[in-house]
Amino acid sequence: MDDVEAVVLVGGKGTRLRPLTLSAPKPMLPTAGVPFLAHLLSRIRAAGVRRVVLGTSYLASTFEEHFGDGESLGLELTYVVEEAPLGTGGGIANVAQHLTSENVMVFNGDVLCGTDLGAVVNTHRHTDADVTLHLVRVQDPRAYGCVPTDDDGRVLAFLEKTEDPPTDQINAGCYVFKRSILEEIPRGRVVSVERETFPGLLERGARVSGHVDNAYWRDMGTPGDLVHGSADLVRGVAPSAALPGPVGESIVLEGADVAKDAFVFGGTAVGRDVVVGEGAKVEGSMLFDGAVIAAGAIVESSVVGAGARIEAGAHVRDAVIGDRAVVGAHCEIKGGMRIWPDVQLPPHGIRFSADV
Ligand code: GDD
Ligand code: MG
Repeated sequence: MDDVEAVVLVGGKGTRLRPLTLSAPKPMLPTAGVPFLAHLLSRIRAAGVRRVVLGTSYLASTFEEHFGDGESLGLELTYVVEEAPLGTGGGIANVAQHLTSENVMVFNGDVLCGTDLGAVVNTHRHTDADVTLHLVRVQDPRAYGCVPTDDDGRVLAFLEKTEDPPTDQINAGCYVFKRSILEEIPRGRVVSVERETFPGLLERGARVSGHVDNAYWRDMGTPGDLVHGSADLVRGVAPSAALPGPVGESIVLEGADVAKDAFVFGGTAVGRDVVVGEGAKVEGSMLFDGAVIAAGAIVESSVVGAGARIEAGAHVRDAVIGDRAVVGAHCEIKGGMRIWPDVQLPPHGIRFSADV
């Protein structure tokens, strides 16, 4: 696919992942030991694509600071910044002048996916489509773009985040555009590709194809999905060529100090200079650089931010602990709680489902 260029949309603010996204954009959050975007870029490269344009906006400089010109990934990366976010369609229009290939792949920058990208492009070519959408089936389609198709795979409608979805088939956030179609998206204003561009193309009778498969798929936009997606990467359930170590129960980065009798499992990612004390149990979680899990603490399905401390005997489940926050000894934190950066919780508290 040397003749196909790619665009990755990474300009969103990641509000559902706050406070983690106060200091890093969603695609740069450490996921199985590397920024999430590294996994997506490695899949794009493995499919044979070389030129990738990143449409950035929120915390824009962090992308180039990390990935540079892309050479270490075998890619040619170009960064195009939206001073004010232009939405998904506006973001695509904003990079159009940097594209030259006849067909262009466009990716949401927060999707972890195992699909065969070459097969999506083949569907696009065989059906001579103006746009082809990768589609997957999910249990609850309401949080996504619902996309019914006919027996020939022709897209019939595009219903973004509808309460009453007619099918469980959804937009997986990967498209192939004919460049001529992409160039028609209005520039310089906010455009939603989901609410404006796709419905408009369907209305005027353009050929919009659906490519359905049942590959691994997950949108990493919520804390629960981020944690489970990271664990799937660590365990090798979700494919990636960008993992910093072999797949298994955990990935432990350099400088981490895990006590011999601590249990670190279930796809846990342990960042640089993390300390896990004696008898601590960490299951299916993300420990960012410099986090400390003291002796006997339990951490399950949670994100522990950089430099945060979970003190002795505390129990943290389904939670997001902000950078440098402290969860006091024997505290219980459960039920989707988020602790803001630098907050210090005194010992022996029990807290459910309210943010601090
Ligand atoms: N450049 C740029 N500018 N990128 C943006 C902007 C913007 O203004 N707004 C959002 N993005 C990027 C985000 O960074 C993300 O990578 C991608 O566009 C999608 O935005 P999300 O905010 O994650 O959207 P969503 O998850 O609610 O819904 C989208 O993805 C679903 C699949 O994961 C839609 O495309 C749905 O139809 C789809 O089902
Ligand atoms: Mg998303």
